[in-house]
Amino acid sequence: MKFFVDTADVAEIRELADTGLLEGVTTNPSLILKSGRDIMEVTKEICGLTDGPVSAEVTAMDYDGMMKEAAVLAKIADNVCIKLPLTMDGLKACKALTSAGHQTNVTLCFSAAQALMAAKAGATYISPFIGRLDDMGIDGMELIEDIRTIYDNYGYDTQILAASIRTVNHVKDSAIAGADVATIPPSTLKALVKHPLTDKGLEAFLADWAKTGQQIG
Ligand code: E4P
Repeated sequence: MKFFVDTADVAEIRELADTGLLEGVTTNPSLILKSGRDIMEVTKEICGLTDGPVSAEVTAMDYDGMMKEAAVLAKIADNVCIKLPLTMDGLKACKALTSAGHQTNVTLCFSAAQALMAAKAGATYISPFIGRLDDMGIDGMELIEDIRTIYDNYGYDTQILAASIRTVNHVKDSAIAGADVATIPPSTLKALVKHPLTDKGLEAFLADWAKTGQQIG
């Protein structure tokens, strides 16, 4: 499973990229707003921090507008992945952009039928929003499982990008369900490494080590 980070905060991305564990970035209009930065400038900077795909979202609602915005975004860097909404115009743009050799991420997916349509449009990634479904009392993980089954049934190459991740368990359960990628908020990504027994064990080892009076090297 690949790990993307879901943020437009350059400092957070740089810190995670330095670990060597980051394989891509996703942004959206709300995350651009939160960053307080210009979309072109911040996306260019992010693209320089990772070799992986950086999803940048179009905001036009019609096909022609989406294609115009996609052309602008694609010029930022080779690793820009064009993010498109799950609408008929978004899927039409997805088909055209994928055919022209661009990476595409179809976003705001809330049903398996929508994911099937995105695969038929040749999307590189489909983004099912787990957290927003859970927020409504609907099991977001069932959606990942259903999409995995459908894609495997027909051999679709579209990668399942688990999105709207809120918890460590969302990441774990997405991995069990066979998602190809998880896009994770920075705080949740850092929390993945944490366990109280690791901290407790480390504390005990360090205390005993100090008593030996030894040093390595
Ligand atoms: C995915 O690409 C989206 O940017 C993101 O995961 C949405 O998450 P949210 O529901 O926490 O806004």
